Amino acid sequence: MCGIVGYVGGKQASKILLEGLSKLEYRGYDSAGIAVRNDDGNINIVRTKGKLKNLIEKTNNGEDLEGSCGIGHTRWATHGEPSEKNAHPHYSEKDSVVVVHNGIIENYAEIKEKLIEKGYKFYSQTDTEVVANLIDYYYKEIENDPLDAIKKFMLRVRGSYAIAVMYKDCPNEIYAVRKDSPMIIGIADGETFIASDVPAMLKYTRDVYYIDNMELAKITAGKAEFFNSDEEVIEKELVHITMDETAAEKNGFEHFMMKEIHEQPEAIKKTINSIVEDGKINLEKVGIDAEKIKNYNQIFIVGCGSAYHVGVTLKYVFESIAKIPVQVDFASEFRYRSPLLTEKTLVILISQSGETADTLAALKEAKKHNVDTLSIVNVVGSSIARASEYVLYTLAGPEIAVATTKAYSAQLVAGYLLAVQFAKERDVIDDKEYKNLIEEINAIPEKVDEVVNTQEDIKHLASMFSNVDDVFMIGRGIDYAISLEGSLKMKEVSYVHTEAYAAGELKHGTISLIEDGTLVIGLLTQKSLIEKTLSNMQETKSRGARLLAVATNGIGAAKSCDYVINIPKINPYFSASVAVIPLQIMSYYMSVLRGLDVDKPRNLAKSVTVE
Ligand code: BG6
Repeated sequence: MCGIVGYVGGKQASKILLEGLSKLEYRGYDSAGIAVRNDDGNINIVRTKGKLKNLIEKTNNGEDLEGSCGIGHTRWATHGEPSEKNAHPHYSEKDSVVVVHNGIIENYAEIKEKLIEKGYKFYSQTDTEVVANLIDYYYKEIENDPLDAIKKFMLRVRGSYAIAVMYKDCPNEIYAVRKDSPMIIGIADGETFIASDVPAMLKYTRDVYYIDNMELAKITAGKAEFFNSDEEVIEKELVHITMDETAAEKNGFEHFMMKEIHEQPEAIKKTINSIVEDGKINLEKVGIDAEKIKNYNQIFIVGCGSAYHVGVTLKYVFESIAKIPVQVDFASEFRYRSPLLTEKTLVILISQSGETADTLAALKEAKKHNVDTLSIVNVVGSSIARASEYVLYTLAGPEIAVATTKAYSAQLVAGYLLAVQFAKERDVIDDKEYKNLIEEINAIPEKVDEVVNTQEDIKHLASMFSNVDDVFMIGRGIDYAISLEGSLKMKEVSYVHTEAYAAGELKHGTISLIEDGTLVIGLLTQKSLIEKTLSNMQETKSRGARLLAVATNGIGAAKSCDYVINIPKINPYFSASVAVIPLQIMSYYMSVLRGLDVDKPRNLAKSVTVE
C-alpha cells in the first residue's frame, strides 16, 4: 500500500504535500517524492529513498519548491526495490505527464513492451512509470485531451489504482482516477486536496468527496468535477468528516503503538456502546434482521493478518454460543478455493482499514455467489464497508501504528456481540444467559484496562527475552487463537521469529525445534484445556525450553512454569480480549529494546491494497 497526496490552491504546495505525506507514512515508507509545478510552468520533481524525513531534508522542508499545484507519494514497494529511481512521482519524457499511484498494474509488462516499440524509454522497474508513459502516449495520440487520455488508460490496464496526474500543458489542474485503491478529495475555500486517507487533509478541511471506482476527477483550486468512464459529468455529495484529528497524534506517548494499546479500553467500550442499548444488542444500524439471522446455516469469516486471527477466535465463540458452523479463511485463500456458499451462508469480512485488497477481492467473490456479506470495519466509507450488504463499524478511531492493537480488540467485541445476538435470535440461549453474556462483555474494558496499566512485570520479561532467536506460543481452543495474534505482534514489531502452534500438535514434529533456552509462551485461559497445555509445555521444558505462562488468575499455572503473567478472571469465551494485551506489550518493549521502529516496522504497511 502507498500514500498519495495532491494540492491545488493559493498556498505553497510543497509544505502541504509533505505534511499530508507525514500523515500517510503508515501506508508505506520505503521511499517518497513530490512534484510541484512552478510559475514558469516547469514541474520540479524531488524523490528520496528511505523515510519521509529524507525528502523533507532534501527539499529544505519544501522551501526549495515553488508553486501552488503539486502531487506527492510515500511508497511501499511492489515492483522494483526501494530506491530513488523507483520512487514516485514517475514521469514521461520531458515531464509532460507526471503521476503518483497507489495500487498495482497487473499487465504493466506487456504494455511496457508495446511502449518501448513505440520509442518510449524507461528509467525504472516500476509499473507506475508505465502508467505515466501510457497516459502520455494516449494524450499525444488524441490531440491532448487530458480526460480522454486517462479514460483510454483505464480501458487498457488491469489491476488496482488510485492515481493523481499532472500534465505539463495543464497548469493548476490535477486529474485523478481510482479503481479498488482508496482516494478522497477534500474541498476548502479556494483550495482542493487529494489523499489516500482522511488524516492527510484534516488540518485544512473536513469536507470531502469519495471518488468511486472507475470515476475520474478534474481538480482545480477550490473545485472538483467528476466524470464517469464515458466522460459524463457526475454530481457527487460532499461528506463532512467528524473524525478526531488528535487521533493522528501521539499525545505524549513515545510511539503510536503504545498510545493505541492504552486506547483499547475506550475503543472496546465505544464499540460495545454503539451496539448495546438498554442491556440489549441492537443491530439496526448494521441492517441485518432477525429473519436473516435465523435463516443462516453456516458462516464464513474472512480476513488477513490480525483480522484473520479475530476470525479464528470468533469461530470458537460463534460455534460455542450460537451453535452455528463457522469456517475461517485467509482472504487470499477464500477467493481461490471455490468455497461452498449457499443462500443460507453469511460471509463476515473483517478489516481495520476496509481497503485490504485480498479482503475486498474475497468480498467480491462472495457477492458473485449472491450470499449475504457483513463487514466489521474500522474506517467509515472505506471500500469494503461500501461494498458490503451489512456493516458493523468498530469505533476504535484512526489506528496509525502498523501493528494493530485497538482495532483488533474492537473487532473481537463486535464479533462477540454478533455471536450473542445470533444465539438469542436463534433461541439457543435464554434471556438469563443473554443478559449474563452481555454483562460479561461489558466487563471487558475494565479488565483490559487493568492489564494495560500493570506493565512493569511484562516490561521486565521483555528485557529478559529481547535477544531470543526463537519463540513458540502455544494454546488450545481460544488459547490457540490468542497465540496466533501474539505471535504475529511479536514478529511484526520485534522481528523475533515466533511461531504459534496448537499445543497438542507441537509434539507431532515441530518439537524437534525446541533447544536449550527456547522460549515457550503458553496461553492458559481455557480451564478445561489447561492441564493438557501445561503437559505440552512440560514436554518442551524437558528439552531445554523456558516456560512463560499467560494465565487467568487462579487457574493454577504458576507451579510448573518459570514465569507467569496473570490476567484478570474473565468468561473463557472472551479471554482473548484480555490475554492478548500482555503479548502486545511484551512485543512492544522487545521492539523498543532492540532499537527498532515500532510504529513502522520494516517491509510492512498498515494495510496492503495490492494482492
Ligand atoms: C496487514 C497488517 O498488512 O494487513 C496487519 O500488517 C493487518 O496488521 C492486516 O491485520 C489486515 O489489515 P486490515 O486493514 O484489512 O485489517
